[in-house]
Amino acid sequence: MVEVEFENIYGAPPQEIVGAYGAAVQFSPLVPGAQSLEDAAPGSLNGFAILAPPGTVERRYTLALALRALRPGTRLVVLAPKDKGGARIIGDLEKLGCDAVETARRHHRICVTSGPGDAMAVASAIEDGRPQRLDDLGLWSQPGVFSWNRIDPGSALLLEHLPALSGKGADLGCGIGVLARQVLTSPKVTDLTMIDIDRRAVDMAKRNIEDDRVRLLWADARTVKDLTGLDFVVMNPPFHEGGLENQALGQTFVQRAAAILRKGGMCWLTANRHLPYEAILKPLFKHGTMIAEADGYKIYQAQK
Ligand SMILES: C[S@@+](CC[C@H](N)C(=O)[O-])C[C@H]1O[C@@H](n2cnc3c(N)ncnc32)[C@H](O)[C@@H]1O
Repeated sequence: MVEVEFENIYGAPPQEIVGAYGAAVQFSPLVPGAQSLEDAAPGSLNGFAILAPPGTVERRYTLALALRALRPGTRLVVLAPKDKGGARIIGDLEKLGCDAVETARRHHRICVTSGPGDAMAVASAIEDGRPQRLDDLGLWSQPGVFSWNRIDPGSALLLEHLPALSGKGADLGCGIGVLARQVLTSPKVTDLTMIDIDRRAVDMAKRNIEDDRVRLLWADARTVKDLTGLDFVVMNPPFHEGGLENQALGQTFVQRAAAILRKGGMCWLTANRHLPYEAILKPLFKHGTMIAEADGYKIYQAQK
């Protein structure tokens, strides 16, 4: 056990390893309502426990922001499962100019340091992980968001088959706005609610889409309350949570879509071929048809 009661956390580091942190301030962009590390005043935070993200650029960016925000002399504990980036944390901290002590526990690598690190290295990691405009896609994006620098093939297949929609709709798990941009090319769309649990994706979607018909929510689509009577839903449902496959997450998205559509409303859905959506669509929708299948993905059109 690391004997510190943390005031600040990023994600959900296992409490069996870092100790209880019930009242700590949350900084993960994947927790709606959390504080933003980007906005934390330099040198202001007393101690930090971080469940490090798996992607290299995103992880170094997060560690660099944390080092910038940490009060000198206070403790930074960074951990992750060994096979989800944990084995790389010590090297990342060294690159950022920090001496760290590494231990292993419960399949995690745990690194303890106190910063402040090398100012140039910290600034450079922040630069590498910042939001950026991708000229080839014509979109703003950021390392760490879903499929951050390419259009996901499942989403691309849905875009090929999506007709011009009309009325009120929602994009559940909207990411940086790839599906929504096409939906909004139809002048018959009157309202589109875009929801994502990742603040960075919502911020990028705001930059990518300027349209008065749009309402963007940083929220968990499973619990959003005020949506009802919609004419359409589009989605590429997530099926990973905390780095692990979680098919129940995507299935809950299908249930939410059925709940928020009006009778006769249409759900357009793309999925990896291996995901079992048929069984969940059948009892919830009047008709459900797979309208395309290619390259490991399938597209469903389901009418409530
Ligand atoms: C497969 S990606 C699709 C992104 C985007 N629609 C596209 O086509 O590129 C799924 C998205 O769902 C988001 N997500 C995951 N869990 C969520 C939840 N509980 N509520 C809302 N969004 C969630 C992820 O952050 C991710 O952006």
